Amino acid sequence: MEFRVTARRAQPESADAPLLLLALASGAPLPSALVALDSALGGSLERSLDRKDFRGARDETLHLAGGAKGPQRILLVGLGKPDNMRAALRRAASLGARQARKIGAPSLAWFAEEQSDAALEAVAAGLALGSWEYTTTRSAPPEDERRPTLESAQILVADEGRAAKAIALGAAIGAGTNLARQLAMLPGNVCTPEFLAATARDIAARRGMRVDVLGREEMEAEKMGSFLAVAQGTEQDPKLIALEHRKGPAGSKPVVLVGKGLCFDSGGISIKPAQGMEEMKFDMCGAAGVLGAMDVIGALDLPVNVVGLVGSTTNMPSGDAMKPGDVVQSHLGKWIEIVNTDAEGRLVLADVLSYARRYDPAAVIDAATLTGACVVALGHTASGVFGNDQSLVDEVIAAGKSSGDTGWQLPMFDDYKELILTDAADIKNTGGRAAGAISAAMFLKEFAESFPWVHLDVAGTAYSATDLGYIPKGPTGTPVGLFVDFVRGRAH
Ligand code: BES
Ligand code: MN
Ligand code: ZN
Repeated sequence: MEFRVTARRAQPESADAPLLLLALASGAPLPSALVALDSALGGSLERSLDRKDFRGARDETLHLAGGAKGPQRILLVGLGKPDNMRAALRRAASLGARQARKIGAPSLAWFAEEQSDAALEAVAAGLALGSWEYTTTRSAPPEDERRPTLESAQILVADEGRAAKAIALGAAIGAGTNLARQLAMLPGNVCTPEFLAATARDIAARRGMRVDVLGREEMEAEKMGSFLAVAQGTEQDPKLIALEHRKGPAGSKPVVLVGKGLCFDSGGISIKPAQGMEEMKFDMCGAAGVLGAMDVIGALDLPVNVVGLVGSTTNMPSGDAMKPGDVVQSHLGKWIEIVNTDAEGRLVLADVLSYARRYDPAAVIDAATLTGACVVALGHTASGVFGNDQSLVDEVIAAGKSSGDTGWQLPMFDDYKELILTDAADIKNTGGRAAGAISAAMFLKEFAESFPWVHLDVAGTAYSATDLGYIPKGPTGTPVGLFVDFVRGRAH
C-alpha cells in the first residue's frame, strides 16, 4: 500500500498520534509552539535540552514517552546546523520515519518550525523515503514478532490549504524515488530487461504516456551494433524502452533522460572477480532513476515534453559473447574496438544516445553506474557530472543541489580523447586506469555531438553498501530528485 502524507492543522500537544517527530536545529531553544506540549509532558523537553541529552546534531535522536493525552511517544530529531534547510529536513524526516517503522508506529505526526513550501515538500519527500522497505523476496517475520507497518504521516501546519500542494509534490517525489529503489533492489533473475519494459508499460498506462519498446530484432534493423554487442552474450531479449510525456507546448523540443539498464553485469569475457559481484544487480540504477522520474513527472503532470529512454540487457560471458579485440559499428556509424568487455555500459549508452537524435532533444541527460573509477574519485557523496555544454552542466548541478542529489563536475579536456584512440577502429571502449571516469565520459561524448548533453556517473551514489541511518543499506533512488527538479525548472 502506498504511504500517505497529509497536512493537518493541529498543535503538537493535541496531536493524538502514536509518534510525534520534532525536528530541532543544533543548539536552538525550544520553539514557542512546543511550550504547551512541554508543560503537558511536565517539562521533559526543556530538561532534555538543558541537560544536553539532545543537542540537535545532525542525525541525533532522542526518544521520550508521551503524556496521558496527546502524542503517545515523542522522537526528537536533530537537524544540525543546516546551510541547506531542504536537505536537512529531508534527511531528518527520512531518519525519523525509519525510526517510526522500527518502533512499530502505524502513523506519525511531524512538527518543524520551518513551514515554507520548499520545506514542506522536503519533509513530505523525506517521510516517504523513510517509509520505504524492501519486502518482495523476503518472508514476513513470525506473527508474534511482527510490528505494525508505517502507513501514513501527518505534517502539522498552520494552514492546511496552502500546505497541501507542496506536501503532495514531496510525497510524489518520495514515491517515485521509492519505485526506483524497489526496481534496483529486485534481483537480476526477477528484474530483467522484459521486467523493466513491463514497468514502463505500466507507468505509461497510469500516466497517459506513449511507450515504445525495441527488442533485438528492431535493434538489428536500426543497426545498433554497439548495444547488440553487449546483448549477444545473453538469450534474454534486450530492450530499448522509450516513454514519452508530451505535456509541453506542441513543437517544443523535449528533454531526454537516458538510463543505463544492465540488469546484471558479470563483466562478460573480461569477467569480474566473484567477491562482490552480486552488487552488479544494481547496474540498472540509471534506468531505475529514469523510470522513477518519469512516474513523478507524470504524477505531477509537468507542462514539459520529456522522453525517458532506457537501454537494458545483461552482460554475460558465453560462447557467443563479444570478445576483447572485436570491432563493431555503432548506430551512429562510428567503429568501436572492444578492448574490455566489462566496459559495457558505454557500449549500450552510445547507441541509446545516438537513437535520442530522432527526438530532436533540447537537452539529453544520462545516468549510469558507469565506472568504479568515479567511486574512487568522488566516493559515495557526489555523482560525477560531465557534459558538452557548460550552462546545461550548471543547470543539472543546481537541480541536484535543490533535490539532494549532489553532483560534482569533472573535466573533459580534449587531451583526454587520446586515451580512447586506437589503430583498429575510430575509438576503443576503455582508456586504461588513469582518469577512468573521464575516459568513459569522453567515449559517450562521441555519440552526443548533435545536442547539449550531460552525463551523470552514479556508480558511487545510486546504492549504499552500508546503512547510513537516514538511508538504509541498498539503493538510494539517486538521481530521481535531480531529474524531477531539472524538468520542473524547465516548466516555465
Ligand atoms: N557497472 C560497472 C561500474 C561499477 C563498478 C559500478 C563498481 C558500480 C560499482 C561498469 O560496467 C564497469 O565494469 N566498469 C569498469 C570499466 C573498466 C573495465 C574500464 C570499471 O569501472 O572497472
Ligand atoms: Mn562492466
Ligand atoms: Zn556495468
